[in-house]
Amino acid sequence: MKPIQVGLLGIGTVGSGTFEVLRRNQEEIRRRAGRGIEIAMVADLDTERARRVVGDGVKVVGDAREVIANPEIDIVIELIGGYGIAKALVLEAIAAGKHVVTANKALLAVHGTEIFAAAHQRGVMVAFEAAVAGGIPIIKALREGLTANRIEWIAGIINGTTNFILSEMRDKGLDFGTVLKEAQRLGYAEADPTFDIEGVDAAHKLTLMSAIAFGVPVQFDKAYVEGITQLAAQDIKYAEQLGYRIKLLGVTRRTDKGIELRVHPTLVPAKRLLANVEGAMNAVVVHGDAVGTTLYYGKGAGSEPTASAVIADLVDITRLHSADVQHRVPYLAFHPQSMSDLPV
Ligand code: HSE
Repeated sequence: MKPIQVGLLGIGTVGSGTFEVLRRNQEEIRRRAGRGIEIAMVADLDTERARRVVGDGVKVVGDAREVIANPEIDIVIELIGGYGIAKALVLEAIAAGKHVVTANKALLAVHGTEIFAAAHQRGVMVAFEAAVAGGIPIIKALREGLTANRIEWIAGIINGTTNFILSEMRDKGLDFGTVLKEAQRLGYAEADPTFDIEGVDAAHKLTLMSAIAFGVPVQFDKAYVEGITQLAAQDIKYAEQLGYRIKLLGVTRRTDKGIELRVHPTLVPAKRLLANVEGAMNAVVVHGDAVGTTLYYGKGAGSEPTASAVIADLVDITRLHSADVQHRVPYLAFHPQSMSDLPV
């Protein structure tokens, strides 16, 4: 059978990793997917750089809409980021009958309801494992592995940049501004790190996990969001003296009034596993009524860890590509039949 045809929009760090891992592990991936997966077309504004990454044999274009218009393309991977052009392109890809794989948590946390509704109507899948906690397969854990459970709560360190900053402030007694510069120098923090340090990136990811775990709409605007910019080295030192570590946690749980969504610096007892997640790592704890407490730990960002999640979605979609719409419903996660009436 002809390999499933994939078009990639934006070949930066994660796109390059996706290309490399697909190439390196192509035999295993083909066996697991039951069919080959081929990136046949790449769109990037920097076509020269894109050509250097993908080499000959892959069509490189400067206009993403050429990929979407190509009837040969079955799946579009969106790795552009942000809410602007990425939203338009994702909706256009869905309208053109393409399945979509995206790492764009900001887009889905804010516009997810519209995007998932469009995908449901068109009978295509929107998969987003890479949008939450990078290489940790937390979306699949919530959607599949824990599907028998009534999820009670989720708590996680889901932003590597802030966890790196807090770890360095504690280890070296440095202040926030100094460590932020170091994080930028090492490439952990973006040149504009606002979404990371203000807790917005973590809240985007938390919103997506909450929607899947509790069957509620994606409602980023309902989240309480507080970052780490007000923390001083002294706060961290005092916490340590009292037997705690300060972590930026995302917490979502059932309450009597509905679903709670919050991101803020939290005192975690030093003996807890979450307190000992250091550097740019991520960790998510999920409590289900049947399974009890489970922990997921790993790299929340980076080229190949995030590519690992993108490719997992490509494999899932390839397996289900020929299934009927009814079987695709779990991939939308927010199908009307799966929604609870819990307020957020
Ligand atoms: N800026 C994010 C982080 C990257 O620091 O975790 C991955 O979403």
